[in-house]
Amino acid sequence: MTASIIDGKMFAKNLKEEIARKVETLKINHNLTPGLAVILVGTDPASQVYVRNKNKSTNAAGMNSFEYLMDDNVSEEDLITKVKELNKDPIVHGILVQLPLPKHINEAAVIETITPEKDVDGFHVINSGLLATGGKGMVPCTPQGCIMMLKNHLGNLSGLDAVVVGRSNIVGKPMAQLLLNESCTVTIAHSRTKNLAEVVGRSDIVVAAVGVPELVKGDWIKKGATVIDVGINRIEMEDGKTRLVGDVEFKAAVQRAGAITPVPGGVGPMTIAVLLQNTVTAACRLLGVNEPE
Ligand code: GUN
Repeated sequence: MTASIIDGKMFAKNLKEEIARKVETLKINHNLTPGLAVILVGTDPASQVYVRNKNKSTNAAGMNSFEYLMDDNVSEEDLITKVKELNKDPIVHGILVQLPLPKHINEAAVIETITPEKDVDGFHVINSGLLATGGKGMVPCTPQGCIMMLKNHLGNLSGLDAVVVGRSNIVGKPMAQLLLNESCTVTIAHSRTKNLAEVVGRSDIVVAAVGVPELVKGDWIKKGATVIDVGINRIEMEDGKTRLVGDVEFKAAVQRAGAITPVPGGVGPMTIAVLLQNTVTAACRLLGVNEPE
């Protein structure tokens, strides 16, 4: 059996088109243009690429994009002052501070400064608390994108055994909460998990988000399972060239899984699409208007 490939690129393209239609409706009916502010501190090349892509996608969806580039040695105080300014700005509905931040800045302090209603990353403790208690907050983009793909492919997830490999605040923990909200039986595995092969082997859904290239071996996968690979790792080949691989050994996993996301072209494109969706949701909630269908 060869797994069907879950095409995140196509899924994200469709979602972005849907968002662009919602933005158009908001402009016509409410004279509202959702606005997303992104703050980038420093010159990390990967972060620069992400921020550029976010900016491009925001504009392509018809929304306002505001970009703030800050020096590597900006003080925590100045960064927090900027966030507070954006909190008050009525044309800004979503605020994202690109992570990681330089070591001298307390990431948590910066994130907790963002007004929870504008926290389109869903990283504020209020939003993680709302997710954990079934409330209506902002949901982190990457896990939300994974759930959308899983539900689209499997329909009802209720009662399925799911494993999340990785326990980060950005992906692993919120992913587990979302799967629990879908009534899955959820295991969170991590670097200290004793028998990862066995845990993965009994799971109908595998979400790999550990950042270790091909840690999850193909022959661990239960036959017919659905595999979502969040990892994006650049590895060097024998010939000196580099290529992107996920956290799952794709070539072997594709022989056992029922469906699998590729790297690249799987989860990656969904993150920005969900960020745009969260910005539209934030704008509608802040202005008290119904989100267009
Ligand atoms: N760095 C890597 N991924 C993300 C993300 O989803 N949000 C933010 N703010 N920073 C990131």
